[in-house]
Amino acid sequence: MAISPPPPDGETAESGLDERLDNVLTASRSSRWHASATRWQAAREVAAINYLQATLGTERFLPPIGGWAIDYTVAAAILDIIRRHGRPAYVLELGSGSGTPWFAAMAAQAGGHLVSVEHDTDHVDRTQSLLDHYDFQGVCTLVHAPLIPGADGASWYDPDPILSAVGHHKVDVLVVDGPPARSGPNARRPALQHLAPLLAPDALVVLDDVVRQEEQQVLTDWQHAFGERLQMLPIVDRASIFRLLPTDKESSR
Ligand SMILES: C[S@@+](CC[C@H](N)C(=O)[O-])C[C@H]1O[C@@H](n2cnc3c(N)ncnc32)[C@H](O)[C@@H]1O
Repeated sequence: MAISPPPPDGETAESGLDERLDNVLTASRSSRWHASATRWQAAREVAAINYLQATLGTERFLPPIGGWAIDYTVAAAILDIIRRHGRPAYVLELGSGSGTPWFAAMAAQAGGHLVSVEHDTDHVDRTQSLLDHYDFQGVCTLVHAPLIPGADGASWYDPDPILSAVGHHKVDVLVVDGPPARSGPNARRPALQHLAPLLAPDALVVLDDVVRQEEQQVLTDWQHAFGERLQMLPIVDRASIFRLLPTDKESSR
């Protein structure tokens, strides 16, 4: 057992004890809060997995998600919206990984297509192997777009391979889950500036990882830039999901 040092000058043994007791109580409250948050998160994920199992219509065991990939709650929320959309969904994912086969399965079910964008060649190979394993080659175009510095010096995907993969299609669902934070500050901010012109009217935009301060900042910047065109759908905690309404000019066409 550790022997406590004598109380510092001016402090009685009792006041030192009070402070230690406060610390113990604070630590205990904090671990109770974490245990409760973990339990709620597990409950949310179970509800989401049940929904995905009941509605996604694949018998394959798709790769487990969460962590680096989108989590089950985000996947379930996106699937629900795609199903309500009621027509083929064209999905564009920035940043590929274990979630990519899930988006491919959603696009396949909706009779649509997925374009998944990846800057890192090792991850291109890894994701391509996943798509091959699940026979999703026909429903997903995996695009290698290296990160290049923009006018402001910040790196983002080379837009050319993205634009040529999307071609004349309008994007119904844009998932902003890359580039990774390590590629620069507010790495995801340029996404809407580059891709807003490709979006269908009322397109759904998903910004994953908004629990992080950087993504909160990106969201705030987008809210300033797009104002009332950005309509939040408060469905899940981990991601911001919103519709980007067309400009007045676009909607009067
Ligand atoms: C947040 S991840 C993208 C995840 C993807 N949208 C998904 O749901 O699986 C962002 C980038 O991290 C890299 N990445 C993907 N999976 C990874 C992993 N398991 N560990 C480390 N980096 C990963 C890739 O370069 C990817 O573009």
